[in-house]
Amino acid sequence: MLNNLHEQPADKILQLMQAYKADPREDKIDLGVGVYRNAAGVTPIMRAIKAAERRWWEEETTKAYTGLAGDPAFADAMVDLVLDGVVDRDQVAAVATPGGTGAVRQAFELVRMAEPGARVFVSDPTWPNHLSILKHLGMETVTYRYFDSATGGVDFAGMMDDLDALKKGDIVLLHGCCHNPTGANLTLTQVHEVIEAMNRAGAVPMIDIAYQGFGDGLEADAAVTRAVAGACPETLIAASCSKNFGIYRERTGLLMAVAQDKGLRAVAQGNLQHLNRQNFSFPPDHGARLVSIVLTDDALRADWQAELEEVRTGMLALREQLAEDLRRLSGSDRFGFIAQHRGMFSRLGLSPEVVARLREEHGVYMVGDSRINVAGLNTETVPKLAQAIIDVGG
Ligand code: LMR
Repeated sequence: MLNNLHEQPADKILQLMQAYKADPREDKIDLGVGVYRNAAGVTPIMRAIKAAERRWWEEETTKAYTGLAGDPAFADAMVDLVLDGVVDRDQVAAVATPGGTGAVRQAFELVRMAEPGARVFVSDPTWPNHLSILKHLGMETVTYRYFDSATGGVDFAGMMDDLDALKKGDIVLLHGCCHNPTGANLTLTQVHEVIEAMNRAGAVPMIDIAYQGFGDGLEADAAVTRAVAGACPETLIAASCSKNFGIYRERTGLLMAVAQDKGLRAVAQGNLQHLNRQNFSFPPDHGARLVSIVLTDDALRADWQAELEEVRTGMLALREQLAEDLRRLSGSDRFGFIAQHRGMFSRLGLSPEVVARLREEHGVYMVGDSRINVAGLNTETVPKLAQAIIDVGG
């Protein structure tokens, strides 16, 4: 049997992680996988998470299963964090999932069950794993224009042209904030135009929100998701706690399905639980528990928000510094978009040859499409990166 299997294409981001690890150079710079690192290159456990973990270690009395939807307190706290009452709580079906990726996977599966012929419209480019999961599920994908490599911004006219092809029941996958891989985001005014196009066609929005708090702040970063959920009859939302709570390996996410009324919500809830049961049964609890402890305790929540804000402003400062260094060294403003982008990532618009030379000659590891993880930098490596880009003619 096993001899019938074929090699799977390597995941480019994970492959890059391996290549970086294997590189013996001491001054190598890892701008690959989307994991936050502080100035010392460490991915810290956030203070509030550590405190919640200590508390939970004392309080936890059993390791018996939770419900299929996970701990209800986690869903309540996360629905509140993401949606802040923009729709009634009893319109929102929600299940805990293994990470944001688990939520994305379950959302697509729900779509396939409900609308087998639905096409999923995705931005060009999008997170590669979106495409790979859709392919794995045998779902049709349509790309819409998104990134304008000439300006480093969004090709909004192109996007709207492509959304003209939407049909009833199609899905439009949007990034809630901090677009991965480009760093270029829609304005709220543009989002309202997208909402109109979706509603006109009868298409259903799906939002992947994996970086709330990494862009313009916790509230501002939820604005797109709230606008869409408040204005569309139905919305699917895949939320990740990996980045903003720094609990990557705990695999903590929440899938929400916003329904028009309580009755439809109940059906959706049952289906989401069914999907959990078929795929992995009960969702992981530890990370979800830590998140609900932090979000429901005033002091821990305040401390978490303060630390998250330090992370966010630190990344913004690195963006400014890199844009400024490149402005000085190149004598042009062509990299000015780096300071305008938000979140962990920016797509620099460098050719694959330049990306390869940066790796070979300077030990700088970025994804082949020239996506950098800004949090992989610090104030000392920013000038080195800027100089390296100029040296290889980037
Ligand atoms: C990324 O894009 O680097 C992150 O979302 C991590 C991953 O799983 O790819």
